Amino acid sequence: MEIPFLMPLVLSLLLFSNGICQSLAARPPVVNIGSILQLNSTTGGVSEVAIHAALEDINSDPTVLNGTTLNVLMKDASCLDGFLGMVQALQFMETDAIAIIGPQCSTIAHIISFVANELRVPMMSFASDATLSSIQFPFFVRTAPSDLYQMAAVAEVVDYNHWKIVTAVYIDDDYGRNGIAALDDALTAKRCKISYKVGFPANAKNSDLINLLVSVSYMESRVIILHTGAATGLRLFSMANRLNMMGNGYVWIATDWLSAYLDSNSSVPADIIYGMQGVLTLRPHTPNSKMKSNLISKWSSLSKKYNHSDLRLSYYGVYVYDSVWAVAHALDAFFNDGGRISFSNDSRLRDATGGTLHLEAMSIFDMGNKLLEKIRKVNFTGVSGKVQFDASGDLIHPAYDIINVLGNGMRTIGFWSNYSGLLSTVPPEDLYSKPPNTSLANQRLYDVIWPGETSQRPRGWVFPSNAKELKIGVPNRFSFKEFVTKDNVTGSMKGYCIDVFTQALALLPYPVTYKFVPFGRGTENPHYDKLVQMIESNEFDGAIGDIAITMNRTVIADFTQPFIETGLVILSPVKKHITTSWAFLQPFTLEMWCITGVFFLVVGVVVWVLEHRINDEFRGSPRQQMITIFWYGADLHLLTFISCIYVNSVSHC
Ligand SMILES: *[C@@H]1O[C@H](CO)[C@@H](O)[C@H](O)[C@H]1NC(C)=O
Ligand SMILES: *[C@@H]1O[C@H](CO)[C@@H](O)[C@H](O)[C@H]1NC(C)=O
Ligand SMILES: *[C@@H]1O[C@H](CO)[C@@H](O)[C@H](O)[C@H]1NC(C)=O
Ligand SMILES: *[C@@H]1O[C@H](CO)[C@@H](O)[C@H](O)[C@H]1NC(C)=O
Ligand SMILES: *[C@@H]1O[C@H](CO)[C@@H](O)[C@H](O)[C@H]1NC(C)=O
Ligand SMILES: *[C@@H]1O[C@H](CO)[C@@H](O)[C@H](O)[C@H]1NC(C)=O
Ligand SMILES: *[C@@H]1O[C@H](CO)[C@@H](O)[C@H](O)[C@H]1NC(C)=O
Ligand SMILES: *[C@@H]1O[C@H](CO)[C@@H](O)[C@H](O)[C@H]1NC(C)=O
Ligand SMILES: *[C@@H]1O[C@H](CO)[C@@H](O)[C@H](O)[C@H]1NC(C)=O
Ligand SMILES: *[C@@H]1O[C@H](CO)[C@@H](O)[C@H](O)[C@H]1NC(C)=O
Repeated sequence: MEIPFLMPLVLSLLLFSNGICQSLAARPPVVNIGSILQLNSTTGGVSEVAIHAALEDINSDPTVLNGTTLNVLMKDASCLDGFLGMVQALQFMETDAIAIIGPQCSTIAHIISFVANELRVPMMSFASDATLSSIQFPFFVRTAPSDLYQMAAVAEVVDYNHWKIVTAVYIDDDYGRNGIAALDDALTAKRCKISYKVGFPANAKNSDLINLLVSVSYMESRVIILHTGAATGLRLFSMANRLNMMGNGYVWIATDWLSAYLDSNSSVPADIIYGMQGVLTLRPHTPNSKMKSNLISKWSSLSKKYNHSDLRLSYYGVYVYDSVWAVAHALDAFFNDGGRISFSNDSRLRDATGGTLHLEAMSIFDMGNKLLEKIRKVNFTGVSGKVQFDASGDLIHPAYDIINVLGNGMRTIGFWSNYSGLLSTVPPEDLYSKPPNTSLANQRLYDVIWPGETSQRPRGWVFPSNAKELKIGVPNRFSFKEFVTKDNVTGSMKGYCIDVFTQALALLPYPVTYKFVPFGRGTENPHYDKLVQMIESNEFDGAIGDIAITMNRTVIADFTQPFIETGLVILSPVKKHITTSWAFLQPFTLEMWCITGVFFLVVGVVVWVLEHRINDEFRGSPRQQMITIFWYGADLHLLTFISCIYVNSVSHC
């Protein structure tokens, strides 16, 4: 009775376990990856072609993913419209992809990172925003160098040229703001600073950009760092040209957007490139290799095939190509390690349904953690060089080319590598075989042709036309006019202190505007305590003059090193010390000793005259009487003598 019941159950169990075994052993014939790009942008177009190029190479290579075809599902998501881009990207997350290439822009990357974390889908992004870290977003895998390194390279260029202050112009979104924050940190580490920061929205009107540039031209710094996208960056350069801000004295450093634009756009109009002569820009460094030249030679036919024949390979393409390969290698290791591709519905999203967003359609990649782990461990040589991630999730060996826009193209004037932290004319990959040498003696770049077609390095600053002047209080002295006083004829301040001050200012690498404010009427010497107090009460920003450093003045103001040392002194002639056995003679001079001797005799004689008649001691032979005279004289004088030596030695101490 029971047997017919059991049979189907056992059979189905057998079938089921068989199915699991098969799916574990056999690889799926097709695996989907996704990509979120703005396809009509230069970067998006290059990335699209690069993804297809990589897929063609992977699917035709029997050594990777043998038997499995890697397929890409493309999503066009706008970068300009943050909201639309976000919705488009979210919709796309409903497709069951095992990894995402992109998003292209930092704004969308920030939003999608949360989703990728929840769905356990690794995101292979080339967004350079340094705040997108793999600590907060473990499924965010940065496949290009972070802006942290780019800004370190910019700071090194600034420091190498002895500039101290820079102006930062940036696009006011996540990418721009966070990049400038990284620049600020990098410059501070070099004791330089951003003296003026100005952001603008992506849709800024031309009149806004002109106002922005005019405000920049009023500032003292002539070193302008431009961190933006290609579209607004080019508009800014053409405005700057109209305002004569691309000429002599100016320094423009554009971040990697400019090199990406010039690399990838095969039809840059001549007037655009001639309007940017002397600009410096950076490009993530990828070593020349056979693989790279193969890709470049295949590029033109590939770009035609995918309707982007006007685009050339830029570094974005190189990094995207390698990230697809990284996914393929990781997937291979994933399958070899028993990985299986399956998705399950997110119970949290199912509970949160309602409305028409259909978020419940998003599903979790069950073994996403395992694939992520394999991606973090990839180790192969790609078109961009060694592809390997360090413990913090960054690609190893970030390096940049330093480029000078010149003539109708670009000239590489050197490299920056994080390995040595230096600028150098030696390609970074030549350094990796040796331990890093961070000696500043190796720091070197080829000569730059600066804006205005000069090879002379711009000073980097001017006296600003709108800066607040420092008010320097100067005593208008009546006596000792050599120190400082007001010139009767010209009305200006003059004197030794003024000369020292202006010479010291000339040594500063940045401008300081100031005016001297005379203190006192010149008919009497002013009250210096009042002058010092006026610094404390902010009527003066500083004071110069022969102001003595006293205890209670140092409490309220800081002083420079004094230029004249004064104080109480005692003058005394140098005495030679005689240290012989006759030293006891020193208390008296020779005359004193003679007079002492004479007194010695006189006293003895007087005592003899008075005493010899009545005193028995003064009797006897003349010889005996002489001895007595000497005895009494000596007796009396010994006392005087000892007290004299005592007084003398005490006064010497
Ligand atoms: C790309 O397409 C969007 C609309 O999808 C449009 O708003 C934008 O201007 C286009 N960008 C370029 C560079 O053509
Ligand atoms: C790829 O798979 C085919 C068929 O399964 C097999 O004949 C071939 O040897 C495999 N190639 C490599 C490199 O494993
Ligand atoms: C190349 O640059 C020019 C000028 O900015 C622009 O009009 C053109 O659309 C760009 N081409 C591509 C493919 O982006
Ligand atoms: C390229 O453009 C042509 C004409 O618009 C279209 O037929 C073709 O499908 C496009 N190819 C790709 C790969 O998008
Ligand atoms: C996941 O959710 C979708 C939409 O609600 C549903 O069609 C599908 O059957 C669910 N899949 C599983 C495995 O529960
Ligand atoms: C990466 O691969 C190379 C050989 O291709 C090997 O020498 C190196 O040790 C590997 N590195 C790591 C971290 O596994
Ligand atoms: C960059 O250099 C610093 C200091 O040498 C080092 O600590 C850091 O790990 C490097 N970063 C990478 C990604 O190699
Ligand atoms: C580093 O470079 C400097 C300058 O070229 C050289 O003098 C020094 O010996 C180098 N140090 C090492 C450890 O190679
Ligand atoms: C400067 O002015 C004071 C008072 O106004 C006058 O006594 C003095 O002679 C003038 N000195 C010179 C050099 O003109
Ligand atoms: C400093 O001390 C002197 C003498 O004690 C006093 O006359 C003067 O007002 C004090 N100055 C200040 C700035 O406190």
